This record gives sequence, C-alpha cells and structure tokens, in this order.
Amino acid sequence: MIDIHCHIVYGVDDGSYSKAESLRMAQIAAHSGVTDIIATPHSIPGMFDNFAGEELDAAFGRLEKLIADNGLDERLRVHRGMEAFANDDTLDRLENGQLLTLAGTDHLLIECEFGEDPEYFGGILLRLRRRGIRPVIAHPERYYFAQDDPKFLLDYVDMGCALQLDSGSVTGMFGHRSRRTALELLDIGAVQLIGSDAHDSESRTPDMREAADLIANEFSHRYAELIFDVNPARLLKNRRLLFPGDESEGKRRDPFMTDEEFWGV
Ligand SMILES: [Fe+2]
Repeated sequence: MIDIHCHIVYGVDDGSYSKAESLRMAQIAAHSGVTDIIATPHSIPGMFDNFAGEELDAAFGRLEKLIADNGLDERLRVHRGMEAFANDDTLDRLENGQLLTLAGTDHLLIECEFGEDPEYFGGILLRLRRRGIRPVIAHPERYYFAQDDPKFLLDYVDMGCALQLDSGSVTGMFGHRSRRTALELLDIGAVQLIGSDAHDSESRTPDMREAADLIANEFSHRYAELIFDVNPARLLKNRRLLFPGDESEGKRRDPFMTDEEFWGV
C-alpha cells in the first residue's frame, strides 16, 4: 500500500510531536504493508506556516534520517509533499513557489475549511486546474457541504480533481455523516485515492488495513486495490488516475494478464 497523506514529519503541525512518535508511526506503516509514504504537513498560513524552503526541507531531512538510521528505509520510502489550504492566497502561494506538490508531480493535496462555501472552493480548484495543477481533494467526505449534498464533489471530479478519502472515515472514526458520505462516494465510483491522514501512533495511525478490508468486502477487491495501490503508484509517476472500470477497458478478454498488465501501472 501507498499512503499519500500522512502527518509524520515531527514538530511542524498537529501531527507527530516528536522523533520517537514519528519512528513509531513509520514502524506501524511498514508493519501494516505500506511501502511508500508521502509526508504531507499542513500548510495553513497563520496556523502552520509550512512553506517550500529551507526550514521545511530540514524537517523532511530529519524524518528521512530517522527512518534510515533505524533501518526502515529499505521497506519504507518517504516522499515530500504538503497539505495545502484553500483561501484567497492559494494561487499566489503557488505562483511564488511556496507550495509543494505530492512527490514533485502535478498533483497538489488541498484541503479547505470544513464549513467552506463549495462554490468558493470550486473557484480555487478551477484556477489551479488552469495552471496545470491536478488537485487532490483531501477528505472530501468530512466537509459539511459534501455531507449535505455530494454533487459539488462530482463537479470537482468533472473538472479533473481527484477525491481522497481518509481511511478513518470509512471505519467510522469521524462519525456517521463522514462514514455515510465516504460510502456513498465509493458506491458511485467517484473515489480515486485514499490516505491514512495519520497524526499519531495511537488513534489516527498510518495503519489502513481495516479500511482496506472493509472496502474489499463491501465493494470489491479490485476497487480497494485501485485506491490503495494502483492509483497512488500512478500518482507517484505523475500518470493519470483511473476510476473503477477504467482499468479493464478493452482488456477483459485476456485471462492470462499479469496484474501489472491489467492495471497498466
Ligand atoms: Fe491531513
């Protein structure tokens, strides 16, 4: 599995608070079958001022060294990214080079206020799309407007944005409205990515197995594979993300395909 959303960098936001905690999170990830993590500190002006530059580079460097010093680097690759915040200055921050995309690709992880106006958020997403960015919307199932009516999210998908569920929403950690919305989005095949959005080693951990099992059982093994493995691997290569169904276009007749050929990773 690949985790594209994780607050494992210590001391920079409300995620990991220490070196020891980051090590515990890395161990949980590796033991639960995660091979790659994109470390995504919050970048919220005035709250978590994490912007591209020396300070943030140093924080990523400390995490990478911690993982290497403890012999985990062969099992767990760490990539750099951030969870950008949507507000009036997002476009300026992009143009000033202050935002980090996911692992240096065109995909930008972006969140908004839980009570944000969906049209305002949509306007920012559209402007990002016009600049060649492929927004990955962090935990859409937790936004109030989406819980009231997921149609706005489908407009964002039409625009070329990807929806990234939090694994904890699927298992019910964020309450029934988030869970119901997550399951609805899965049911209509609108979800392309999932992430742990882990903040610690005890309650919001990097272990996504429960959510993966639930999706495999309630929907399909292929769907779970698509959002936990295939699309994140494609994202790391800056390739277009697939929807459920895309993967087998024109390929269904050949029963001897390898998984790799089937998915086109
Ligand atoms: Fe997050």
